[in-house]
Amino acid sequence: MSKILAIETSCDETAVCIIDAEGGMEDSTFTILGNALYSQAEKHAEYGGVYPSLAKREHQANLVPLATEALQQAGFLIAKSLGLPSYGNTEAIDALRDEGFKNSVTEFLETYGKPDIEYIAVTKGPGLEPALWTGITFAQALGAAWSVPVIGIDHMEGHIVSALLKGVSDKEYRLTPARLPLVALLISGGHTDLVLMNEWFSYEHVGSTKDDAIGEAFDKVARLLDLAYPGGPKIAEFAAKSREKGGNTIVFPRPLANDTTCDFSFSGLKTAVLYKLKSMEKLSESDKEHIAGAFEDAARDVIVLKTRRALEERHPLSLVVGGGVSANKEIQRALTEMVQKEFPNIVLSYPPASLTGDNAIMIGAAAYLRNSGGMPADTELFAQGNLRLK
Ligand code: KG4
Ligand code: ZN
Repeated sequence: MSKILAIETSCDETAVCIIDAEGGMEDSTFTILGNALYSQAEKHAEYGGVYPSLAKREHQANLVPLATEALQQAGFLIAKSLGLPSYGNTEAIDALRDEGFKNSVTEFLETYGKPDIEYIAVTKGPGLEPALWTGITFAQALGAAWSVPVIGIDHMEGHIVSALLKGVSDKEYRLTPARLPLVALLISGGHTDLVLMNEWFSYEHVGSTKDDAIGEAFDKVARLLDLAYPGGPKIAEFAAKSREKGGNTIVFPRPLANDTTCDFSFSGLKTAVLYKLKSMEKLSESDKEHIAGAFEDAARDVIVLKTRRALEERHPLSLVVGGGVSANKEIQRALTEMVQKEFPNIVLSYPPASLTGDNAIMIGAAAYLRNSGGMPADTELFAQGNLRLK
């Protein structure tokens, strides 16, 4: 059994959790002892996307309160006994840079004692570097004060692991043992990747986007339609209304549909939406619904097409879908239909709804599986904005 404190700050969610993990690659269970997550999405909405320095400031302001809340839920928030030496690792505190952040972390460490955890897991990349650094330096300050190791985890590996988890209750997730080779379709705000795993946590890249990520395209199209950030869920809602109304004459292109690679491209699709909007005079609510519907149809089709190609070429036994866009019902429906019809022997899995977006549970679970599988843990930590699975 391992108790792990996990931290995620790669983008605009600040998340801290404490999990108790046991078992191996065949039968792990993850009990959630404490979990606190704050989404900054509303704060970024006025910029129409994530604003990196605001994300950093928000992480700095929220990490201590969220860690306090998660530890409290776990029953691990124990006031330091009087007489214990006060906290003295100035190097790790200095690395926090910001005065307010330093003060809140110092006060936290001087008020509460070491919780009953074995190590700390933190996202090291990919993501926004100022945001990643905030989580990493916070993890290192806690690790230094409590004398526990801090290990860095790839955010995208976290999304893959989240797709292997099944919710038993809101406090417990169980790993569904997946058979290798495994193809992972990673669709998020920053990524559109198809990767192959022949061995656990060893990756080969099969395809990726040449320009915008799919979630970015959803967000940009939402902005063109005056829908609030993050646009993915809003586009999905509008697209569903268009389908309910039964018809849509708008057709957008399926970029790279006919090339022979598993690569994606979404910027031309976004531009096609822009030109369509320019050609229309006044936009009614129902026009917006149809445009959202036609965009989602095109995005869905390329996802299905390229995933099919990857399955045909790589013959995996499992397909997992992860990242924020994996919450999209229409994409889920179409992928499930394709796999059931054409690849009935491939086991397809999605994350539980509670874990599709960014969260700390997937980071803690990935750290545990790496550690228990004897995979090298990365203790030399620095923020890697463009980190690639390898
Ligand atoms: O994985 P995630 O939470 O953060 C990143 O690592 O990027 O993904 C966020 C992305 C955003 O672009 C958001 O608009 C998109 O996931 N998203 C969706 C849906 N829910 C979230 N896109 C389409 N349909 C959804 N239902
Ligand atoms: Zn993510």
